[in-house]
Amino acid sequence: MSKKNYHIPVLLKEIIQNLKIKKNGIYVDCTFGSGGHSKNILKKIGKHGFLYSLDKDPYSINFSKKIKNKNFKFINDSFENLIKYAKKFNIIKKIDGIILDLGFSTNQIKNKKRGFSFNLNGTLDMRYNQKYGISAKKWINNSNKKNIFKVIKKFGQEKFASKISKAIVKYREKKKIEKTLELSEIINKIVYKKNRKINPSTKTFQAIRIYINKELKCIKKILKDSLKILSYKGKLLVISFNSLEDRIVKYFMKSNSKNINIPHKLPITYKKIKYLDEKKKLKIFKKILPSKKEVKKNIRSRSAILRIAELKRIK
Ligand SMILES: C[S@@+](CC[C@H](N)C(=O)[O-])C[C@H]1O[C@@H](n2cnc3c(N)ncnc32)[C@H](O)[C@@H]1O
Repeated sequence: MSKKNYHIPVLLKEIIQNLKIKKNGIYVDCTFGSGGHSKNILKKIGKHGFLYSLDKDPYSINFSKKIKNKNFKFINDSFENLIKYAKKFNIIKKIDGIILDLGFSTNQIKNKKRGFSFNLNGTLDMRYNQKYGISAKKWINNSNKKNIFKVIKKFGQEKFASKISKAIVKYREKKKIEKTLELSEIINKIVYKKNRKINPSTKTFQAIRIYINKELKCIKKILKDSLKILSYKGKLLVISFNSLEDRIVKYFMKSNSKNINIPHKLPITYKKIKYLDEKKKLKIFKKILPSKKEVKKNIRSRSAILRIAELKRIK
């Protein structure tokens, strides 16, 4: 792999600083990728600390094998299953920090065989792990117009979703859509480049990727589970790259940190008190964006938003 195809970890300094790594702490990197963040966490933990890293993508296994450290374990699975591993390794409520660096990596997008890129001609696949779910190719050739429209609109927020879905279905009457550039050309005929700052295919490709990998569902699950597995004062750090992801993270953190004032003398049931209590689990910190210097060095970081929260009660 050429150097320019290597993934540069985003907001690395900020992640390491804000994790406030304890030498004997237990940490989880939910999105190992090629290990950019993980390797730097490992540099800070001591012989009694531990790092568990997960990634759904089997390509990450080889990257993980390069890390020779007995305080490190790689798990090739989705972070939506983290709670299962937390039980298995007896680390429930013992985790001092969880990080998520959402979406795809440079290694994935630059590998045309994976089908993530609208700039490289590859088979339309877009799965992080081909063991799970169906490929983008299968989905796009077998879904009806209404469903294609809904996905492109909902997960891509594409204003031309209706026209694009019609064009896809019309094209399919002649032949199956097999390749990334084939899909991109269909879109280019609908969305003109001059009307867009970004590539006309960006939103549709994002939508299909999110849908195929059930990305938003996985994010909601791990956020919810983090409340059950973090230790007291354990940190949750999430980097998102689009407004759909960020909205979920922001809403989750805000709604779990609210201090709800119950009006004096108002009759309130035990169930309600318990519910309101559960709503006050997190302390949230100011969001962090990449510096101009980082964006200049790594253009992929330009849309990154890091949100941080800390568990302030474990019950
Ligand atoms: C932005 S990259 C992470 C890069 C990594 N921080 C690094 O520095 O190398 C996002 C990674 O998340 C993985 N991923 C996406 N959805 C996942 C999920 N539900 N569970 C586990 N990993 C997932 C992708 O396979 C990809 O490797």
